[in-house]
Amino acid sequence: MSEKRPVKITDTTFRDAHQSLMATRMKTVHMLEVAELMDNIGFHSMEVWGGATFDSCMRFLDEDPWQRLRLLRKTIKKTKLQMLLRGQNLVGYRHYADDVVDAFVSRAVAAGIDIIRIFDALNDPRNMARAMAAARREGAHVQATISYTLSPYHNLDLFETNARRLVEMGADSIAIKDMAGLISPFDAFELVSRLKKVGVPVQLHSHYTSGMASMSYLKAIEAGVDVVDTACAPLAMGTSQPPTESLVAALRGTPYDTGLDLEMITKASEFFKGIKKLYYIPPEATGGVDTDVLVYQIPGGMISNLASQLAQQKAAHLLPEVLREVPRVRADLGYPPLVTPTSQIVGSQAVVNVLLGERYKMISTEVKNYVRGLYGRPTTAVSDELKQKVLGGEAPVEVRPADLLPPQMEAARAEIGDLAESEEDVISYALFPQVAESFFRRRRGLEPPIPEEDKCGFPAAAKPAACREADLSFIYTVDSGLLLADEEDPEQAAYPAG
Ligand code: CO
Repeated sequence: MSEKRPVKITDTTFRDAHQSLMATRMKTVHMLEVAELMDNIGFHSMEVWGGATFDSCMRFLDEDPWQRLRLLRKTIKKTKLQMLLRGQNLVGYRHYADDVVDAFVSRAVAAGIDIIRIFDALNDPRNMARAMAAARREGAHVQATISYTLSPYHNLDLFETNARRLVEMGADSIAIKDMAGLISPFDAFELVSRLKKVGVPVQLHSHYTSGMASMSYLKAIEAGVDVVDTACAPLAMGTSQPPTESLVAALRGTPYDTGLDLEMITKASEFFKGIKKLYYIPPEATGGVDTDVLVYQIPGGMISNLASQLAQQKAAHLLPEVLREVPRVRADLGYPPLVTPTSQIVGSQAVVNVLLGERYKMISTEVKNYVRGLYGRPTTAVSDELKQKVLGGEAPVEVRPADLLPPQMEAARAEIGDLAESEEDVISYALFPQVAESFFRRRRGLEPPIPEEDKCGFPAAAKPAACREADLSFIYTVDSGLLLADEEDPEQAAYPAG
């Protein structure tokens, strides 16, 4: 072809890259130092917010996520700002009521977000509808997302049908979210070719985990993908995105030429090379190709989580059996893509099944709620055995799960009282009650601030042992959500245990 069709690039350095490599710890101050330079590079957009960055700000950094967004918006004047939103889960780990979704999206756009990438772990459009409608109403670009996975039931027809439905629901573009780095180059070609027929721009988001992502991007570009996600080289590869520099260089002088200035990107990368040393990056995150993803189709981060769960039970030797059990549990649950929160739900049940020596002798509350339909509709039916065990003769919930939730904003406002200093604070509290309240208390000086050395924003060499200890429990698991951490408190669960 000779017709010019420049590929656009979304830079993920301020969101997914540091979430994937450094447990979401990058401080706002470091982003601001390089933000203007990044703004001048000419990216299609910069992903700077959402995913795990929201609670991470309050939880680990003593920072207000809303303030971060406003400061970035002030400095990044030309480039569109993008965020990742987990549908009805917003930036949390459970479903929230519709009034929280509306308030969150409205304030996010007001604070500077232009493009909202919306996904659901089960690809259940009902879990995305409210957020998509809110984003559209607020004037944001609605990027609806397909969570990519492999299974006997996932195929090109299913993904295309899914995409068409999302466009009918008002999507301005479609993203393929390959959170585990599973998509192979030739599958990427086929999938993008199919999705391009739907009639809106297509964007591909992958991770370098299996070592295939750059090749997959190239094939996706041949198939006509409009935008791909990359990160500045020092924070690329491993469990992060492919490096921007290589792609820009590879496409130079071709019809797909990005037109981006490689020298300017290199300057930004010099900066990230410098600050990278200030954060702890677990060796597993940058250890080159993760062969587990290729062999088991289970994200490597999830395997290390399973291994540590087993080690705690002094049962490390059972790992091979658990790795065989994970796909079986996933099949029983109707083949959910493995992403937060389904990866944790499937993984923990597989561990329990193996440890107790009998499948589903004990069933976790999450699996029960899943089977009851409270996470949404799986790709295919849950196994009869599991249905019988959990539901007896009862029927699962057929309504959209969030229809069962009463409004939450006014209750949150009353509960947090004057510790909230703005409407944004009330939203933060509605999303993460304990984390937000602790943050507000520290902000007001009612509790001591998080020590600098615990933020992992200090040179690793200064206190390497402490840094390592602080970080290992928060190693990235499966891409976006990753950290269930202490929001697992049953009192905070959206739906009653049963
Ligand atoms: Co990602």
